[in-house]
Amino acid sequence: MSFLGVFVICLFCGLVLKTIWNNLKGPWENVPPGPIFLPVLGSTLTFAMGSKDAVKFPLLVIDAMAKKYGEVMRLSMGSQHMVFLSGLKAIKEFASKEETTMRPYNETLLEMYSDGEPLGMGIGIGGERWKEQRRFSARALRDLGAGKKGMDAKILQEVVHAIEDIKNRISGTQRLTKMDQYFDLPDLNIIWGLVAGIRYEYDDPAAHQQFDYLRSFLQESTAGPMTTTPWLKYIPPFKGIYWNIRQTMDAFRVLIKSVIQDQRKTFDSEHVRGYIDKFLIEQKANRGKFFTDKDLIINCQDLFIAGSETASKTLSNCFMWLVLNPDVQLKVQEELDRVIGRERHITMDDKINLPYTDATMMEVRRISTPFPITPPRTAPMDITIQGYKIPAGVPVQMNIYSVLRGEKYFDEPDKFKPERFLNEQNKVVVPEAFIPFGYGKRRCLGENLATVSNFIFYANLLQVFSFRMIDPKNPPSTLPCGGLTYGPQPFDVRVSVRE
Ligand code: HEM
Repeated sequence: MSFLGVFVICLFCGLVLKTIWNNLKGPWENVPPGPIFLPVLGSTLTFAMGSKDAVKFPLLVIDAMAKKYGEVMRLSMGSQHMVFLSGLKAIKEFASKEETTMRPYNETLLEMYSDGEPLGMGIGIGGERWKEQRRFSARALRDLGAGKKGMDAKILQEVVHAIEDIKNRISGTQRLTKMDQYFDLPDLNIIWGLVAGIRYEYDDPAAHQQFDYLRSFLQESTAGPMTTTPWLKYIPPFKGIYWNIRQTMDAFRVLIKSVIQDQRKTFDSEHVRGYIDKFLIEQKANRGKFFTDKDLIINCQDLFIAGSETASKTLSNCFMWLVLNPDVQLKVQEELDRVIGRERHITMDDKINLPYTDATMMEVRRISTPFPITPPRTAPMDITIQGYKIPAGVPVQMNIYSVLRGEKYFDEPDKFKPERFLNEQNKVVVPEAFIPFGYGKRRCLGENLATVSNFIFYANLLQVFSFRMIDPKNPPSTLPCGGLTYGPQPFDVRVSVRE
């Protein structure tokens, strides 16, 4: 046998022995439990065998695996070792640490998201750049009124458009098709209102195209696997998907760039239109190190990626649960009629007097969270979680679905029961385990805006319309569907204007 032959056999045997050893001992010291893994493939086979729908519903496979292996679970996706945290204790322990605010550097993700550059506040890897962008953005959102009165009026304007639009669409048929996507454009407008003070008509093809861009990334269930198994992007069909995501995200950024150029030309510091103007002010004042044009483009993209689908899917989920639970819908409408009546719109100031209406939206967020598994975070040094060691740089994802749907935290977690959030005095209570916006220093930046916009939208629509199932024998499925964010499966509804 040639020297090369002996070398290949030795290499192969070495790899087999190392794999057996790693599986027995773990890839690192005091490793969390998890399924066996093979070289190159990792635990992909165990994962794929977890369900016949593993690609369609990876969330459910991860959740089932966590029940088997524990709250701190190692999962090797391709050649990438990762850790998934489930349960409130492990999530809180991890997310409260100062050193876990980083996102791991992932070349494929960054190529798809930001042409390879680690910018922005959502996927940006952390450190000084992220801190500065996050601090600025939180302040800008607050000043622009996100989650406060100023934004109320803009959201109400959008609701008024949606009410007219729904009346037109249902005229003669009482049928609203594709309810699972209906709120995409209204919510896109809410983000455009915040970013640049502009809005699109619902029949504007440009707005539809923008949402198609966002969907190509957010709804692509193989986007996650490609980031952990990067060689996939070189082989069909993943190669095509990878390039499609890159091209559509590029096209979205070209559009953002042209809006920024327009806003720069018409900039007037006395009339701030939105986030872009706020950023331009920082740029002109030369404050901070990281106020470049590229930072601005990716920050805007972050607001759309993190803020539009999450909010719109929450509303679609809401109407899905309401048609499945007509008694809850009636109770919300009864409260709206009793407290507000039909003569005026419902604003955020009314929320405190509408506990059942508020609790119903909380229950929607709990039972069908659009962001069930957070994007990966990591620590630049070894850390210990629940007694297990997680080495520096290993990506960690938090399975917040395990808490929101966990029996340990919520009684009968698969049932839709808004009253679980009300106490004996009929006041809303927020349990510690209610974490749909994540936990710790990288928790959602848009929580206030999402809370206001979702509440105002659904309450005002229920004041005007009733929503029913098209065919009670064929109810909408409650199985989540998506890629990086989750919403309901396609469904239509019957809508009538309330007497
Ligand atoms: C119902 C709607 C929403 C839900 C359920 C939601 C949930 C989440 C979750 C779970 C995270 C991940 C936190 C982590 O990594 O630990 C997140 C991050 C983020 N969200 Fe939201 N979100 C919503 C709406 C919004 C809106 C409307 C905006 C902005 C306009 C927004 C902006 C962000 C940003 C920028 C991040 C990244 C923060 C960072 O990495 O520092 N979100 N969101």
